[in-house]
Amino acid sequence: MRAVDIIQKKRDGGELSSAEIAYLIQGYTRGEIPDYQMSAWAMAVYFQGMNARETGDLTLEMAKSGDQIDLSPIAGIKVDKHSTGGVGDKTTVVLAPLVAAAGVPVAKMSGRGLGHTGGTLDKLESIAGFSVEMDREDFFAQVGRLGAAVIGQSGNITPADKKLYALRDVTATVDSIPLIASSVMSKKIAAGADAIVLDVKTGSGAFMKTLEDSIALAQAMVDIGTQLGRHTVAVISDMDQPLGYGIGNALEIKEGIETLNGRGPKDLEEVCLILGSQMLLLGGKAKDEAEARSILSGHIGDGSALAKFREMVAAQGGDASMIDEPALLPSARLHREVKAAAGGYIEAIQAEEIGVAAMLLGAGRETKESVIDLGVGIVLARKVGDRVEAGDTLAVLHINDASASQVEEAEAKVLEAYRLAAQPVAAPPLVYAIVT
Ligand code: URA
Repeated sequence: MRAVDIIQKKRDGGELSSAEIAYLIQGYTRGEIPDYQMSAWAMAVYFQGMNARETGDLTLEMAKSGDQIDLSPIAGIKVDKHSTGGVGDKTTVVLAPLVAAAGVPVAKMSGRGLGHTGGTLDKLESIAGFSVEMDREDFFAQVGRLGAAVIGQSGNITPADKKLYALRDVTATVDSIPLIASSVMSKKIAAGADAIVLDVKTGSGAFMKTLEDSIALAQAMVDIGTQLGRHTVAVISDMDQPLGYGIGNALEIKEGIETLNGRGPKDLEEVCLILGSQMLLLGGKAKDEAEARSILSGHIGDGSALAKFREMVAAQGGDASMIDEPALLPSARLHREVKAAAGGYIEAIQAEEIGVAAMLLGAGRETKESVIDLGVGIVLARKVGDRVEAGDTLAVLHINDASASQVEEAEAKVLEAYRLAAQPVAAPPLVYAIVT
């Protein structure tokens, strides 16, 4: 077999066999197939696509390229949750303890933030002492004992995806549905969960800007999961504005705590209840959505979800007193209000611009090496559908060490992000579809 023949076959619209896909991915992982051939192949896939069988084969080969975690020592149906990435998305912080309180074990490997989106690990590290590093035995033991643990990716998971994703990033081949679907699902398959709930974001702040593309991506991922024996459901949720009000690490933990307390923003609570219900259904803890919702609301109402978060934080070395007194979390010294220049109804809040503004203040990483400030970020004062008058506060910048020019740039980005209309605007739906 030769890589050049496989590239040519795909370039000309052919269907690759399982053996051809295995040859390519194994050869690339071992360093025998060079980047320039994989780039050409990725571009051929970008234009010609792949069918469900090819996408499934690609996913499995990438999942098998490194360590595969066997979660079977943990009793019960382990359900993973994955978001395709959004701004202000702190759902994992809420869902890990909430779903665990309802009896579904959550053994979660999360990531760090890069660019305009935040990462769960950074958010959790704003709790003093919280450790996201744990060896496999301790991780299993904590999930077995408490029902939840959130750690960073350990070991050598999906090295083929790591290499291919870095290549796609610099060859304009990221936004291809089979390549995104196989990239995401290979990591989920290797991470070992029995069932997977995907939160596919749609809108200005998401990878997929249109509902049609988002549904196609969701369907491709659900089909892969089903093909590979992992029950998978995808929720298509809105990212035409940030989720909740806080954007920035400690600010998002505070909002997560408020949500676990039953006092969080309604949009965040609702998205968590929808995702959490799907997790309970896949985990066999509820017979329908209504029952799942009622179980989850019960755990918020009686304080058991928050108690589970406290337990999880303490088990991972974090200062649990910060959960009861969020004022102890890192915070900013300075606050600057961003005011509306004119009146109107808020039509959209470009989530990506808000994410970039938070990054400029130090909440996010421009490069993998950037040091982040856990206390800074942005708190939105108004959301889509709200009426504002000239001079009203749209958002508040939380600032520590950003330079004057960075603060000015962040303020300009926030102003740019808010789009106003003369006519009343309805708030967008939080969830557009559930793909099964
Ligand atoms: N996230 C991933 O993990 N992979 C992609 O290809 C895109 C987003």
